[in-house]
Amino acid sequence: MNDAIAPHGGRLVNCVSSMDGTPAGAKYIAELPRVTLDERAHSDLELMAVGALSPLDGFMSEADHRSVVNDMRLSNGLVWSIPVNLATDAATADKIRLNSDVALADAAGRVVGLLRVTDKFSFDWREEAQKVYLTTEDKHPGVAYIAARKPVLLGGPVQLLHPRAPEFPAHHRTPEQTRALFRERGWKRIVAFQTRNPIHRAHEFLTKCALEIVDGLLLHPLVGETKADDIPAPVRMKCYEALVAKYYPQERVVLSTLPAAMRYAGPREAIHHALMRKNYGCTHFIVGRDHAGVGNYYGTYDAQKMFDRFKPEEIGIEPLKFEHTFWHTGLKEMVSNKTSPGPKEAHLALSGTKVREMLGKGEILPEEFTRPEVSRILIEHYRGK
Ligand code: ADX
Repeated sequence: MNDAIAPHGGRLVNCVSSMDGTPAGAKYIAELPRVTLDERAHSDLELMAVGALSPLDGFMSEADHRSVVNDMRLSNGLVWSIPVNLATDAATADKIRLNSDVALADAAGRVVGLLRVTDKFSFDWREEAQKVYLTTEDKHPGVAYIAARKPVLLGGPVQLLHPRAPEFPAHHRTPEQTRALFRERGWKRIVAFQTRNPIHRAHEFLTKCALEIVDGLLLHPLVGETKADDIPAPVRMKCYEALVAKYYPQERVVLSTLPAAMRYAGPREAIHHALMRKNYGCTHFIVGRDHAGVGNYYGTYDAQKMFDRFKPEEIGIEPLKFEHTFWHTGLKEMVSNKTSPGPKEAHLALSGTKVREMLGKGEILPEEFTRPEVSRILIEHYRGK
């Protein structure tokens, strides 16, 4: 393949199938027991099918789940930090025989995939929450999800029969497609930027610092399920498009979506985010302050420290760790504590509450905080609310 980096585990998984294209296949599937996917499981199925979660080719077995929760490794020893599960109720689980197929239906009731059930098990959500999210408080959105999930977890390999129509077709690329694009462009060192926010000046600064030392940037916003008060993906996509068009070197940036659900698991999710980007063909990954964090559950640099628990070759993709960056009002530029001559009072800081208040009133945010094009798109969004 001659790619800059191999997928996690060495091989890009592909479990897209057209089995229901034949009358016999369709009849077989119609008679199977059904499990309905929630939004997260549906996006995980889609990601697995195209190799974004390689080496996972299905929902986790009990052995993998236990091993990931306890040791951040799959049962074969490969680094993996986040459980990927399919949950169902006890009555449905009782009807399912081991080593048989179940049909996976989307929220509208359409069968979109198959699961060969090799495992049925339960796992105490509190233990999982404490180990994965470092808290059992259900104010934490990731914890709330597993606290409310159905009690039986089904594991086994999957097949995706019907991919969803992408929400942002112009920016939708599978790992195979981003890899092909990087090869075409001759990029050997590619940095990925994960974000679930509009790109503010701090984000812009990180990505541009990184661009100084690599061949290209994969701007890879997560567009799957996020918590209710995060800015919706369609609004963010407008911001990214406007920014890239005006403030970035077009030929050195690829804007592409990651249709994954946020877990808000901070340090563990930073590893997860990095491994997915490795599968998309990136060699470097930006990890700034409180990556994938929420509230005050994680320390500012805990996500960065998490990478130090593993040997670099076990992760493969290289983290580019950035200090908390901010606008220095005296110097009139972005700095961090590594580059600022001080003093602390010269830092422009805007709280999320203040930002929402200003946008709600139709006020353009200071250009030092966000580009005016982004402010305008956000004002429109808040007006519409
Ligand atoms: S995240 O949930 O995707 O991490 P966000 O979109 O805010 O949230 O952050 C994207 C990336 O930028 C993360 O790596 C985060 O650590 C980093 N980041 C965000 N703001 C700053 C900042 N002011 N200084 C340094 N890094 C930052």
